[in-house]
Amino acid sequence: MNATYRDRFHIPKSTGGSDCVYLCGHSLGLQPKTVRTYIAQELEDWELLGVEGHFRARHPWVNYNQLLAAQTARLVGAGPLEVISMNSLTVNLHLMVVSFYRPTRQRHRIVVEEHAFPSDQYALKSQIAFHGFDPAESLVAVAGEEELAELLHRQGESVALVLFGGINYSSGRAFDMPRITRAAHAKGCFVGFDLAHAAGNIVLHLHDWDVDFAAWCTYKYLNGGPGSIGGCFVHERHAQNESLPRLAGWWGHDPATRFRMVPDFAPAIGAAGWQVSNPPVIALAALRASMDLFDEAGIDQLRAQSIHLTGYLESSLAPHAGGSFIIATPSDPQRRGAQLSLRLRRPVDAVCEELRARGIICDWRAPDILRVAPAPLYNTAEDIDRFVDAFLTAAVDRT
Ligand SMILES: Cc1ncc(COP(=O)(O)O)c(C=O)c1O
Repeated sequence: MNATYRDRFHIPKSTGGSDCVYLCGHSLGLQPKTVRTYIAQELEDWELLGVEGHFRARHPWVNYNQLLAAQTARLVGAGPLEVISMNSLTVNLHLMVVSFYRPTRQRHRIVVEEHAFPSDQYALKSQIAFHGFDPAESLVAVAGEEELAELLHRQGESVALVLFGGINYSSGRAFDMPRITRAAHAKGCFVGFDLAHAAGNIVLHLHDWDVDFAAWCTYKYLNGGPGSIGGCFVHERHAQNESLPRLAGWWGHDPATRFRMVPDFAPAIGAAGWQVSNPPVIALAALRASMDLFDEAGIDQLRAQSIHLTGYLESSLAPHAGGSFIIATPSDPQRRGAQLSLRLRRPVDAVCEELRARGIICDWRAPDILRVAPAPLYNTAEDIDRFVDAFLTAAVDRT
């Protein structure tokens, strides 16, 4: 499986012309070779048809989003009506929070995971302030599931929304999403997940877990390209819930009457009803190329391969851990995805640069975390051997 899919990606070259060791799918996934064809088809239809392409393109643009619905649903464990490709991640989080955060004086808190990605913190603080509450009081961070359960037990009635990452961007820790959802619902809170580091990485069952909403980006494990279009999930039980406030726009209007240009908004059923603008077809085409690959490979098989690869990375590093670095990601494969986060003693930016000079691409996050993620679609055990060899030289503290 490994070799079959690797050949279907462009692997960046090092200065010597050989394949880089690319372990950065947690940041920007590689380009599937079919992306060019998928985009070229839309460029050609635009060239030949102009505006007529909306209805007469090989894949009519008005319905282009539907081409992605089934694959996206399979990928995140949802029904096709529960998912939509739109905007980008933080924008989608804002749209979701507008609907699922309706604070009152009694219930105004949002609980996030400790060290949540800064964009989430900015978005949530701005939403809290928008409602006239004080972010210093209303945004609460907890270390994980245990601490969340304790907080909910003690003060659950003050919590309006729980918004966790599926996998934390820095530690690589995967959270127990079904448990978080059950605990939050038991106290009457809505629950959403930022799946930036989980979508296309681990197996998700968003519908069965009963999650209210989720949002993710597609430029990481999903290989949609830089700044690619985001994904969003809204549980079926909210599909026609018109009591939820939302920020509306014409593309979220019921497609049956969208072009009647009526002044009153009637939302499309399901996640599509949260769309605001008409989607960028070129971006959707790039994403579709990758989603077709995911569908062909199957997320269950990819995850099995991923557990194997990351386990191999861990077992290659573990005997050397302790002095120059520690592995900061949980060792239980169920509590992590593809990424291992290595906390270094040497300055992490310098180590990253040395690795890059040797054709090895990973990245770092302040203050001291090197992030390394073998992506099962294109990474091999040989990539891991090359990384470990170079890393053990670069990471050694020379002071
Ligand atoms: C966990 C997480 N949340 C949010 C974001 C922000 O994404 P965007 O810039 O697409 O809104 C990122 C970006 O890497 C992320 O990793």
